[in-house]
Amino acid sequence: MNEEFKVTPWDVTGKVDYAKLIEEFGTEPIDEGILNRWKRITGSIPMALQRKIFFSHRDLNWILDRYEQGEKFVLYTGRGPSGHTHIGHLMPWMFTKYLQDTFDAPLYFQMTDDEKFLYKDSLSLKEAMAFSYENALDVIALGFDPKKTYIFSDLEYNKTLYRIAVQVAKRITFSTAKAVFGFDSSTNIGLIFFTSMQSAPAFLPSVQAGKNIPVLIPHAIDQDPHFRVTRDVAPKLGYYKPAAIHCTFLPSLAGSDKMSASRPETTIYTTDDVKVARKKILGAFTGGRVSVEEQKKLGGVPGVCAVFQYYYYLFEEDGAKLKERERKCMSGEIMCGECKQDLADRVASFLERHQEKREKARDRIKDFVVSDYSAAYDRLKRPQDRKEVAKLKRTMKEYYSVKEGDSIRINRTRDLE
Ligand code: TRP
Repeated sequence: MNEEFKVTPWDVTGKVDYAKLIEEFGTEPIDEGILNRWKRITGSIPMALQRKIFFSHRDLNWILDRYEQGEKFVLYTGRGPSGHTHIGHLMPWMFTKYLQDTFDAPLYFQMTDDEKFLYKDSLSLKEAMAFSYENALDVIALGFDPKKTYIFSDLEYNKTLYRIAVQVAKRITFSTAKAVFGFDSSTNIGLIFFTSMQSAPAFLPSVQAGKNIPVLIPHAIDQDPHFRVTRDVAPKLGYYKPAAIHCTFLPSLAGSDKMSASRPETTIYTTDDVKVARKKILGAFTGGRVSVEEQKKLGGVPGVCAVFQYYYYLFEEDGAKLKERERKCMSGEIMCGECKQDLADRVASFLERHQEKREKARDRIKDFVVSDYSAAYDRLKRPQDRKEVAKLKRTMKEYYSVKEGDSIRINRTRDLE
């Protein structure tokens, strides 16, 4: 049963075989040895590691060695702001928050609005920038420490990043980029350069500190090609290779695949109305049988069930309760309707709480965002085309800082410490 699948930084399709991916990408599995070490250092093993949601890594032992020798590391992760955040995106970010708390680590969070603009035909520059801010609200809502978290949009922090990016770019040939990312002659040249922008934050902490700082990148496995390049270039520039820890994708409500923005009916956005989210869950693909009688007799199949996956990935932290749910399903004691209702309740209460924190984050965004542009620069950008702003407002509906004649703005510049 070897279905085809594809995993690239811009496209994930099919049923992903993660063991095969470890082989193909040449990463290391998270094994018992690492888990034991993790427990010894931190005192416990978080759910995401226990359940192999984070399943693979590069140089994790190296960064733990350094940590145990008293050398603190910095975290780096990011988001391509092509639309609103869905709950699949939250998975690695929640784990990153756990890492920040556990290792007392600063976090650099990159919004690659440049990348999404370059990649997506229909996305305007302003929309991409606006989504950077919308998505940042979700990051902030997860509770990161404002004193240790630096969120930036590539298009607003380009001066700082570009100086590192060109150094990286100079050491990557077109033929490497083609081999790693599958580019061809029809690829726009922005996208070919872009990988060096995604490398830059891995070296930024070292540039700023004036000495080498270990960096750990928690990310979904599809981004690994970028960091393969980053790690190749690092020693040539005199930096440490960044370590990485990789997660799987949250499946879509339709079953296989990852949750994807291109199919909104099988994806739960953090901005979804609670009623809408409930409806999506009640329509999810399950491992149920054709009739109740048959299910009582044969039991369900949690292995193929999207609803069970949601408990597994996010909505049942208690391992014993998860096992019990699985048992009840397989023995035909619980029917899909009940299981979906339970999940819908959990998702609804999660969304309610998250959305409240997300709204509050609008007033706190200045505590997190770093930028190369000042308010004076923003004034230069005004006034904008009124029509453009009106269109943007329609797209974003409630984008917090876009007023008539206003520009996408950063409220405060903050220098990195
Ligand atoms: N390119 C990533 C995306 O499309 C965003 C990103 C930038 C990122 N830097 C990162 C993701 C570092 C993980 C880690 O989602």
